[in-house]
Amino acid sequence: MPSGTTPHVAARIKSFTYAIRNIVVEAKKIEATGRPVRYLNIGDPLPFGFKTPPHLIDAVLKAMRDGHNGYTASVGVESARQAVSAEFERRGMPVSPDRVILTSGTSEGIELTLGALADAGDEVLVPTPTYPLYTAVLGKLGARAVFYRTDPSNGWLPDLDDMKRLVTPATRAIVVIDPNNPTGAVYPEAAKRAIIDIADRTGVPILADEVYADLGFDGPTTLLGSLAPDAPIISYSSLSKAYLAPGWRAGWLGVGRSDRLDDVLAAIKKLADGRLCSPGPMQFGIEAALNGDRSHQREFVRELRVRAELTTKRLSAIPGMTCVEPKAAFYAMPGVALPPGKTDEDFVLGLLRSKGILCVYGSGFGMAANLGHFRVVFLAPPDQLEKIYSDIGEFTGEFLRQS
Ligand SMILES: Cc1ncc(COP(=O)(O)O)c(C=O)c1O
Repeated sequence: MPSGTTPHVAARIKSFTYAIRNIVVEAKKIEATGRPVRYLNIGDPLPFGFKTPPHLIDAVLKAMRDGHNGYTASVGVESARQAVSAEFERRGMPVSPDRVILTSGTSEGIELTLGALADAGDEVLVPTPTYPLYTAVLGKLGARAVFYRTDPSNGWLPDLDDMKRLVTPATRAIVVIDPNNPTGAVYPEAAKRAIIDIADRTGVPILADEVYADLGFDGPTTLLGSLAPDAPIISYSSLSKAYLAPGWRAGWLGVGRSDRLDDVLAAIKKLADGRLCSPGPMQFGIEAALNGDRSHQREFVRELRVRAELTTKRLSAIPGMTCVEPKAAFYAMPGVALPPGKTDEDFVLGLLRSKGILCVYGSGFGMAANLGHFRVVFLAPPDQLEKIYSDIGEFTGEFLRQS
């Protein structure tokens, strides 16, 4: 390469975008001017004072001290796979330990599965709004995210007719995120059964992202795979959210017992071999989490419910703004009635520059930019949220008046 030229960057990188982190660049510019920024962009409970349960930390430290610092089997350590299998069984989804794979978070499980299922040009049904990892990974694979609508006027539930219509011979998977990020929706059993029916009839597998299943405000939610154990369903979760250890990158996937999924399971295992293993000592945290005390979850969910109610009440009261009440986790997806020509990004960047509050615009989750949605992460303490929502109210008034 002649000196002075720069290395080629793969063209597919252009289609790999992840707004939740990309937008931080704008916040850093504000901080560089000496103004503080309140970050409501990333779903990590730790910076807001929530703590990883000590018995999980003890288990990981013990694993390190006991010498479990080498590579593990690429599918993960056996005792943790058994713990995950037992957890699936307890929740009514039969998944034997040999159909469990430990992954670097839910994220890697998703990436391995999409890699196993979709060739370039293939289609995967993804909700809009979606957690952006799906579109990012599909972009990298050269596969196509085909969006099915979820409806804010119906509690952000999936539009099942839309979903049915969108399944084609090129569809390789249907992604279902329940409970949902970014909307906070929990799907009722009837909706889950209807989605399962589509998958079962077409043979297209469901990728059930259930990373928030323990954070339902009315109790843990029903796993899709428990409603139809023989339907083609793969379930994903991790220690990141309900066990307050997102940095550990400790997750798992469970492939339902249907033999229709055997080839996919083999393909995922093949890809998992290539990355050697997920972080070894953290796998021992999974056993401790699933077999140990979960009282921290009751407290966490109680705190989240208070914040969710506050969020809905305060944001819905802002003229020009609507907010559907979240039923789980720590996200809400309010919407502003934008003036013609304005985008959700205009609103979010304006809010950042005017008030030093960082949210993520709805188009970062695959929504149309003129719909005016943005995502709020409501993990901050209620007194801070009160101030933040007052500032959002003030800014919204100014934004709508000026435009
Ligand atoms: C719906 C959803 N899936 C997956 C992830 C990634 O989780 P993990 O830390 O387990 O990779 C997140 C993180 O915010 C998420 O919201």
